[in-house]
Amino acid sequence: MDEESRITKEGIRIHAGTDFAGMHKAGALAARILDEVGPMVAPGVATGVLDDFIRERIQQEGATSATIGYRGYQHASCISVNHVVCHGIPGEKVLQNGDILNIDVTVIVDGWYGDTSRMYVAGKPSIKAQRLIQVTHDSLMKGIEAVRPGATFGDIGAAIQTYAEAQRMSVVRDFCGHGLGRVFHAPPNVLHFGRAGKGPVLEEGMFFTIEPMINLGRPETKVLADDWTAVTRDKSLSAQFEHSIGVTADGCEIFTASDRFFPEFG
Ligand code: MF3
Ligand code: CO
Ligand code: CO
Repeated sequence: MDEESRITKEGIRIHAGTDFAGMHKAGALAARILDEVGPMVAPGVATGVLDDFIRERIQQEGATSATIGYRGYQHASCISVNHVVCHGIPGEKVLQNGDILNIDVTVIVDGWYGDTSRMYVAGKPSIKAQRLIQVTHDSLMKGIEAVRPGATFGDIGAAIQTYAEAQRMSVVRDFCGHGLGRVFHAPPNVLHFGRAGKGPVLEEGMFFTIEPMINLGRPETKVLADDWTAVTRDKSLSAQFEHSIGVTADGCEIFTASDRFFPEFG
């Protein structure tokens, strides 16, 4: 059997070295669209306007939105404002000064999926909102730093949880990262909490997302009647960052990297 098309006993695909190029192309487009939408985020703008822009840019590039039609979802992005944890539906909602929001975009380019999300601010966020965004970004990066062959998925979760909880914030348990590649969601579930040394062992050629959601208050969430929008039960602010990555011989490559990934607070 071709070693490079192996599936592990946990059902995780080991991709070929040549598959990295496809993921870089898809990831770079998703990241570029998030770069481009940034200057549009401001008080007075409706989230649906941001989604319209994202949809048009994906189309212009000859790529496909992975979310339009996914389990009945109708939009090119998820836009999650303030206490919305994830899967916020873009629409009429108008951004207010101080709002913080996550925009999550997944594109398909030549069959490969690029999935990334980051935080934006409308106007001037509170100091505690800024701190939440900083800690969430740094939590993702702590998770990514744990990625290398021989480490475990538990090492990633433990790195994120240890860091976030040391900052007196909480890690959402109800949503996780995921394998991806030529599919949107594949094994394993990438938990953002856990114990070092537990879980499947990482191998070169695994492709997955890490996408921690961190809350200022308690970790519990609930899904609203629209069946998508997940919010914090205690209404506390929530933030999220997401990268798609591939495990290499000595660490990982970030497919969705951008020098504008992290927001500046004016
Ligand atoms: N992009 C999300 C993720 O990180 C999934 C969104 S599915 C949707 O996995 F249908 F809500 F768009
Ligand atoms: Co994802
Ligand atoms: Co995503």
